Amino acid sequence: MGISGTGSVAGTARDGWSSRTAFILAAIGSAVGLGNLWRFPAEAGANGGGAFVVFYIGCVLLIGLPILLSETLIGRHGQASAPESVRRVALQSKASPAWGLLADLGVLGSFLILSFYCVVGGWVLYYVGIFAVDVVQSGPFGGAFESMSAEEIEALLPDLFANGPLMVGLDALFLGITLYFVAKGVSGGIEWVAKWMMPAFFVLLVAITIYSAVGGAFEETVAYLFTFEWDKLTGPVMLAALGQAFFSLSLGLACMITYGSYVGRSVNLAGTSTIVAGADTAVALIAGLCLFPIVFAAGLPANAGPGLMFQTLPHAFQSMPGGPLVGLLFFVMVAVAALTSSVSLLEPPVAWMIDRFRIVRPVSTGIVAAGAMVLGALSALSFNTMGWFHPLGFIPLFEGQGMFDVLDGLTAKLFMPIGAILTAIFVGWIADRRLVDSENGLGGILHLFWLLLVRFLCPLALLGILIAGLFPDLFGG
Ligand code: PHE
Repeated sequence: MGISGTGSVAGTARDGWSSRTAFILAAIGSAVGLGNLWRFPAEAGANGGGAFVVFYIGCVLLIGLPILLSETLIGRHGQASAPESVRRVALQSKASPAWGLLADLGVLGSFLILSFYCVVGGWVLYYVGIFAVDVVQSGPFGGAFESMSAEEIEALLPDLFANGPLMVGLDALFLGITLYFVAKGVSGGIEWVAKWMMPAFFVLLVAITIYSAVGGAFEETVAYLFTFEWDKLTGPVMLAALGQAFFSLSLGLACMITYGSYVGRSVNLAGTSTIVAGADTAVALIAGLCLFPIVFAAGLPANAGPGLMFQTLPHAFQSMPGGPLVGLLFFVMVAVAALTSSVSLLEPPVAWMIDRFRIVRPVSTGIVAAGAMVLGALSALSFNTMGWFHPLGFIPLFEGQGMFDVLDGLTAKLFMPIGAILTAIFVGWIADRRLVDSENGLGGILHLFWLLLVRFLCPLALLGILIAGLFPDLFGG
């Protein structure tokens, strides 16, 4: 039992974080994930470096952080699953409980993301396995990996993609680990992972970054990531940065509402949200400073997109001393970050099921995970066996796309922006001002500034994302 007080489930005390630190670590754990380590460097690399990075930081401060605070305050006030929390806030504000729909959408969205996030988590486990076998068999400095050609290393990913059963098995493994911790509850499982894994993650990140900075092309990286060129800041680059900021902060998906619902009354949400957003952004930047020096030192390109982490980087490790060992530690670090995010994706639907149907946690977790496994398997098989299956192919936006891309597109283009726009409107315009004021922990001018952002800038900017996602031709993207 944590500090969040009593709750609604079958008359029992509601589980919650045992301390403010536990909440901060769990929220950072949710935010820091594949988005920071895989997507951020890839997007920055593909979108011209500095311009993307500077605009990204602006998006986090002016749009991401205000929404993060809005989501956690809804949850903390509601003290229930995300949809129920929104409904409670709506009813107390004399608004329609139908606003709860915004979080119903979020719960569904986080379930959908979970299903394909674990597929990518499975790829990470695969690389952990490859490097682990090499290090165990031939020590940290060499072995099978050292003698592979560049083509062979880069072929590891397409070879994995071609192997349907292996992809499904790895997905099941990653989802199974996620299920184990969520089934154990908030304070006993999710918090435990955050408390042990996040410090380990930070130690690994700093150690590998120092190794990379010393042995790799650090100056070139700094110039690349922080040289701001106005002409590179095009419409598509700005939209990519805003979308990335949202994904990275776990927004628009009921995750932060759910995590907020386990927070105690005494915690200042403005302060903790700022810490979470700051840490998430710092990790994204450090991930760039960690990856690119190794890539540049090996004379490889920065703009490989998704292949950057799974192909370019393993190739580059080859030319570094102790590369296989560093590769192992690197992918363990990525796996840890992905796990603390995947638990936060599983928790919203589980909390919803517990609240809505009064099904005990272990069973709820099992049911949600089983559903995610079905969709996950279809996603994994969309790379090989079921490449012909285009579930939403009749909609032009999804023409020719397999399950993985459909789920990715649906969540990024529809669920996240719609969830976030509705959250901004709900907190900015609908919810009772006294209720919002008493929850957010902001005073004076900062409070006013936050309110202005939530009321005007956030919905408008997110509307831009939504429109650009649905009509890519409009923006030349
Ligand atoms: N923020 C996580 C990451 O960066 C992904 C995530 C998105 C987690 C949405 C929860 C909700 O990888």
